[in-house]
Amino acid sequence: MCGIVGYVGREEAAPILLDGLSRLEYRGYDSAGVAVYGKEAGMQVAKAKGRLQVLCDQIQGGNILHGAIGVGHTRWATHGAPSDVNSHPQVSENGRFAVVHNGIIENYAELREFLQSEGVQFVSDTDTEVAAQLLEYYYQGNLLEAVERTLHTIRGAYALGILCADCPDRLIAARKDSPLILGFGAGAHYLASDVTALIKYTREVCWLDDGEIAELTADHLWVYDAYLRPVEKEHRHVDWEISAAEKGGYEHFMIKEIMEQPEAIRKTVSPRIRDGRVVLDDWQLTVRELEEMDRLYIIACGSSYHVGVAAKYILEKLLRKPVEVTLASEFRYCDPIVSERTLALVISQSGETIDTLAAMREARRLGAKVVSIVNVVGSTIARESDSVLYTWAGPEIAVATTKAYSTQLAVIYLIGLYCADLLGTLDRTEYDAILSELQRVPDKLEEILKDREDIQYFASLYFNRPSMFFIGRNLDYAVGLEGSLKLKEISYIHSEAYAAGELKHGTISLIEPGTLVVALAGCGPLFEKTVSNAVEVKSRGADVLGLTTRDRAADLSRTADDVISIPETHPMLLPSLAVVPMQLFAYYTALQRGCDIDKPRNLAKSVTVE
Ligand code: AGP
Repeated sequence: MCGIVGYVGREEAAPILLDGLSRLEYRGYDSAGVAVYGKEAGMQVAKAKGRLQVLCDQIQGGNILHGAIGVGHTRWATHGAPSDVNSHPQVSENGRFAVVHNGIIENYAELREFLQSEGVQFVSDTDTEVAAQLLEYYYQGNLLEAVERTLHTIRGAYALGILCADCPDRLIAARKDSPLILGFGAGAHYLASDVTALIKYTREVCWLDDGEIAELTADHLWVYDAYLRPVEKEHRHVDWEISAAEKGGYEHFMIKEIMEQPEAIRKTVSPRIRDGRVVLDDWQLTVRELEEMDRLYIIACGSSYHVGVAAKYILEKLLRKPVEVTLASEFRYCDPIVSERTLALVISQSGETIDTLAAMREARRLGAKVVSIVNVVGSTIARESDSVLYTWAGPEIAVATTKAYSTQLAVIYLIGLYCADLLGTLDRTEYDAILSELQRVPDKLEEILKDREDIQYFASLYFNRPSMFFIGRNLDYAVGLEGSLKLKEISYIHSEAYAAGELKHGTISLIEPGTLVVALAGCGPLFEKTVSNAVEVKSRGADVLGLTTRDRAADLSRTADDVISIPETHPMLLPSLAVVPMQLFAYYTALQRGCDIDKPRNLAKSVTVE
């Protein structure tokens, strides 16, 4: 959730730390802080509640802090309300240690009690302060030893950046269950939660693994295991462009990323089609393993889970195998039925979502093979899967996902076609029809995006409704789930998504004059059924905003007050088109309401706490 950065080199550290934090602000943005050590000024710590800009203004863009080594943090509060004192870096009582942390120290209460009984005074409510005070407690002149003892004492998840006034030429980094990346520059080394904070400075990186500790100076970098035995790390080259992590003239990252979807899908799909066939080089499962597969679990959270809901319909139809889609946070604790013939398909943009990671580890422990769909190269989920299929969406910065969703869905079609081909469950004509429509999705999305002002107009009609419902059947229902989540995330309007046929079993009692119902009626054979459900809500006073394909728009407008029409396609591909007007509707609604679109309240992009 929180973002951490660290720098050691020959330049002034503070501006570099602030720049890195500005690229990580989507991980948390309720407060921020930096600690810099300088020969003359010693340890300087600045922290401020609020957005990063408050801190920047307070320290004049970093210009009033001097020193070539430091750590920084942008916070998503877990322990203790957002405040100056609870912001990181947390500092040990005598100021020797400054610590930035992402994660949760689970035994912090007992450790805090113990340290207090030893006379240590605490100033914040954070779990992180325990780490800073413990370092001081164990420190007897050897920094690495104090770090080792501290890490063996704390339980929970952490990515840590540690600065020690006694060793002002080196930073310490450590990780367990929270992401941490090290960057190699010219006469400098970096640490960060996410590669986006580093790409302006270096493309050469390595990922710390669980239990590892790194020691960084300007010229050297050493990595150790949890017992301080040296570990060799492989360097990786990151080829994301810096421009991909900037707004490029758009008002928000979200609209920029919505507009990038055609290209992101092209990049994800095209290289995997050869001679009219889907070829998945990264797919490690044999035909035999596929044939013997007893069930397929799709495991994910949030929007990635919504891709999973669509995937269940798609993959069951194409593969004729049982598919269960499950929320990662539930899977872990539900005693799932997993055997060596089970396949777990894990979906995650960040590749770091802790619930998804833990569920994936549980599936593996129980014997399942794991295939993941991930956007961030080298992320933990990607590294721990048996096979990984990357979505080539580039960095996604807006908290509300758009292009990651679309590319994940594109990969689902690729998997469906590829496996159906191996299993022989799909006839050639249907295979060709789906594949050729998949390749046309980017062009059709460009048509939808060209007409985005129509959606903006609908948002201007309905933005002040207190409550909205999204109904649809089958794949339309899956799209409704995502449309509703987008709206909730960024516009704060109460909203629910319902399978259209289920509404009358209870929830229809909430429909009253003025309620907006978005009726998704794209899915070929179920069109009439959804229209009937739209008629039911209309009779109870709701306004209906319908969505369907162009050829059916006139039909739908007999019931709906307004209709969004999308190009025709194969019914199985409709979600790829229908989701984009939903994203635009949420975006323009939030814009009308003056919401902070890229940084919605209470949310963070990468959810690395349970
Ligand atoms: C989507 O708009 C959300 N930000 C959220 O639901 C997200 O999809 C979820 O937290 C899962 O993240 P992941 O794909 O990185 O695992």
